[in-house]
Amino acid sequence: MSKKLFGCLSFLLMVFFTLGTALGASGKISEETSACIECHASIHPGIVADWKESRMSRITPGEALKTSEIERRISVKDVPKKLADVVVGCAECHTINPEKHGDTFEHEGYQAHIVVTPQDCATCHPVEATQYSENLMSHAYANLNENPVYQDLAETINGMQVFQDMKTVYKKPDPGTCADSCNFCHGTKVDAVGVKTLDTDFGEMKLPILTGWPNQGVGRINPDKSKGSCTACHTRHRFSIQMAIQGLRGKQAWKYLLLRWKGLGLRSGSVESRNRFLGSNLCCLSYQPCHKWGR
Ligand code: HEC
Ligand code: HEC
Ligand code: HEC
Ligand code: HEC
Ligand code: HEC
Repeated sequence: MSKKLFGCLSFLLMVFFTLGTALGASGKISEETSACIECHASIHPGIVADWKESRMSRITPGEALKTSEIERRISVKDVPKKLADVVVGCAECHTINPEKHGDTFEHEGYQAHIVVTPQDCATCHPVEATQYSENLMSHAYANLNENPVYQDLAETINGMQVFQDMKTVYKKPDPGTCADSCNFCHGTKVDAVGVKTLDTDFGEMKLPILTGWPNQGVGRINPDKSKGSCTACHTRHRFSIQMAIQGLRGKQAWKYLLLRWKGLGLRSGSVESRNRFLGSNLCCLSYQPCHKWGR
């Protein structure tokens, strides 16, 4: 009798656990991403934990396409086959478009890159990426760094005054100083300029040396020539819209969240309709609820 009960119980437990895992992992993790996580869970536990909290670790592009347009948070209509039925993991972002990236490096059998760019995100979020590329913010690097008048301004702030030939002149600031001051927000120019060898727990490893890195400036020039950084607002590795919305203040935020809660779905795809509801002053200077700014 007790043997039967035991059998019954273990059968129930088995059903429970298989069901549990099936429900817990709604999306499939690709083989490539599983390999990344195997090592990176011990090197970067914070990154892996944050990613697990993110929406992209739970919903595959294929599943997203099955939801109604108002609920959906991807704007692509046709996801590349390879990406459709797996969740968006390390490999899906860090090995996408290898041929376009100046920072691509051979990494444990994968062609990986460090800087995941708006062009990479555009694989699934083309509307947001296009809107952002038309936004003034995405041009913040050149607007400052390629304008001689503004460069004079920057030099008087960042440069050092020195006495030379009986007059005071400004010594040009070094790139590190500019990266820490103006370009912290305006963005740096990031590119691979060499290779460094690291001694890691997994043996010797070669990684690219990047200039102007790390940086999350809004007009960053990326190693694939694209402009900007989505992580200026959607901090990695959670990439949440909640976090990006914190840029809104007080009454505006409440009004906005209320509308969103009411299911009006005023998303980035419908900036115009949202602005009709809220008034165009919704967009404040440095954090904008929308990717496109009427300018
Ligand atoms: C055999 C273990 C291993 C595997 C598999 C692996 N990595 Fe790594 N990865 C490492 C180690 C070790 C480093 C160096 C970390 C350090 O000390 O900065 C690294 C570095 C990186 C970096 C650069 C980090 C930095 O600080 O600049 C990225 C990005 C990266 N890996 C992504 C990936 C992706 C994406 C995959 C899967 C496609 C992957 N890795 C697979 C072990 C691994
Ligand atoms: C949705 C795309 C996306 C996914 C998924 C993703 N990353 Fe990233 N990762 C990024 C972006 C974007 C950056 C930072 C680039 C920037 O600041 O704009 C980044 C930065 C990093 C860095 C830091 C590099 C440095 O030098 O600072 C590491 C390491 C890294 N990711 C590892 C991982 C691992 C491990 C996973 C899987 C658990 C993962 N990423 C999943 C987009 C992604
Ligand atoms: C391979 C496709 C793919 C790529 C590449 C990708 N995403 Fe996503 N993203 C998704 C999917 C799928 C969702 C969930 C969609 C849904 O729930 O309707 C999502 C959701 C989001 C959300 C909403 C999250 C939330 O909590 O509501 C943000 C923000 C986002 N992605 C930003 C990014 C950024 C930034 C990048 C590049 C660094 C990126 N994504 C790259 C597929 C992708
Ligand atoms: C905290 C973030 C931040 C920092 C740091 C910063 N800026 Fe800006 N900068 C902005 C924003 C936001 C704008 C506004 C864009 C707009 O509305 O035109 C801007 C615009 C400008 C413009 C006008 C550009 C144009 O499009 O005509 C100049 C010039 C400028 N900044 C110079 C500088 C200089 C010089 C420094 C360093 C001494 C600096 N900024 C540091 C955020 C920043
Ligand atoms: C200036 C800040 C800012 C930047 C930069 C930014 N976003 Fe957003 N993003 C937001 C805010 C705020 C929201 C939430 C408002 C909303 O629901 O429209 C949002 C929403 C989203 C969503 C959800 C859209 C939906 O339909 O619910 C996606 C996807 C997204 N962003 C992707 C991106 C990508 C890709 C980039 C880079 C090309 C990017 N964002 C750059 C602020 C930003």
